[in-house]
Amino acid sequence: MKKRILITGGAGFIGSHVVRRFVKSYPDYKIVNLDKLTYAGNLLNLVDVEGEDNYEFVKGDIVDADFITELFHVNQFDAVIHLAAESHVDRSIASPMEFVMTNVIGTVNLLNAAKESWKGEYSQKRFYHVSTDEVYGALGEVGMFTEATAYDPHSPYSASKASSDHFVRAYHDTYGLDVVISNCSNNYGSHHFPEKLIPLAINNIKNNKAVPVYGKGENVRDWLWVEDHARAIDVIFHQAKTGETYNIGGHNEWKNIDLIKLLCKIMDNKLGREVGSSEQLITYVTDRAGHDLRYAIDSSKLQEKLGWVPSLRFEEGLEKTVEWYLENEQWLNDVTSSNYQSYYETQYAER
Ligand code: NAD
Ligand code: TYD
Repeated sequence: MKKRILITGGAGFIGSHVVRRFVKSYPDYKIVNLDKLTYAGNLLNLVDVEGEDNYEFVKGDIVDADFITELFHVNQFDAVIHLAAESHVDRSIASPMEFVMTNVIGTVNLLNAAKESWKGEYSQKRFYHVSTDEVYGALGEVGMFTEATAYDPHSPYSASKASSDHFVRAYHDTYGLDVVISNCSNNYGSHHFPEKLIPLAINNIKNNKAVPVYGKGENVRDWLWVEDHARAIDVIFHQAKTGETYNIGGHNEWKNIDLIKLLCKIMDNKLGREVGSSEQLITYVTDRAGHDLRYAIDSSKLQEKLGWVPSLRFEEGLEKTVEWYLENEQWLNDVTSSNYQSYYETQYAER
């Protein structure tokens, strides 16, 4: 094998797309997927690669430092692509400590293991940290986040991700570890856990349940198809210079309410419902505390330096996404049972 790569959080939404891409595109890489399988991790996301010779799944927790050290010792990794995280803002408001543990302590455990295991050969190894645009805080009506925008996180989630980004840079500056970081905008696509806006709305519309829109629905998010994110990670992993940061985004800003209305239209069409019937499910609920008004990513560095461009128009991607959820009812039923039910009832009963 040319490279042995540890991908963390590979059973989650974005991680499963990254694992699939690397396992299929690079048969001469060994891909080890380390995941704790929290409520958000699902091995059903990877059934199409689980039998591949260059793929291995390991269940484990990045918060467990001894376990991580041993994993590095046994596997002698050449690189890490780190996606494992607690990722949902609303959950971070309800229980911030889990975010500190996984996103901050877990990341530092991985950095420590990499630092020890790769001693003397840092230039041949790479630690790729996958982060979010939410570390930059909130924009007003105009402007975009660039790689030079100062960090200004507002939620426990974004604060924990910002903290982990700082640790990754500190390990580059202090110890000389080869690191790269990317900060991506909101992703959408298949295998997305239905606690986040788009899959939650699809699931609720399908089941004729209220579609909760926070506040007035005026908040703006910049949406990118998850497979375009996975391709950007591939490009950055292979081509970025050490210590670099890249913003990833598709110049695709939508007000939440406009996005939900477009989704309702697509769903009416796919489900053969009367035009306008799904829109009646829209229900305005109490706003999220500290709700960032607008995110918008300037990805021109990635586009100009590494030649990456998004491949799909949003309307097309959203339609493909709806089709995937309607065709994969069993997946949706599996992930919406157990833990999700009680989370959903508490989260929305209080609004
Ligand atoms: P996700 O919640 O779908 O998946 C996270 C995965 O990490 C799950 O499989 C979970 O089991 C695993 N995990 C959680 N805690 C763990 C632990 N302690 N040890 C090992 N594994 C653990 O998240 P996602 O949306 O796929 O996001 C992946 C990464 O991308 C995160 O770092 C997130 O901050 C970042 N990101 C996400 C978005 C987005 O729109 N979803 C945008 C930009 C960046
Ligand atoms: P989300 O998918 O949670 O992503 P993030 O908060 O990380 O951007 O939310 C996307 C946007 O949709 C955000 O502005 C909050 C809003 N939202 C709702 O209006 N209703 C919902 O039920 C959810 C989950 C989110």
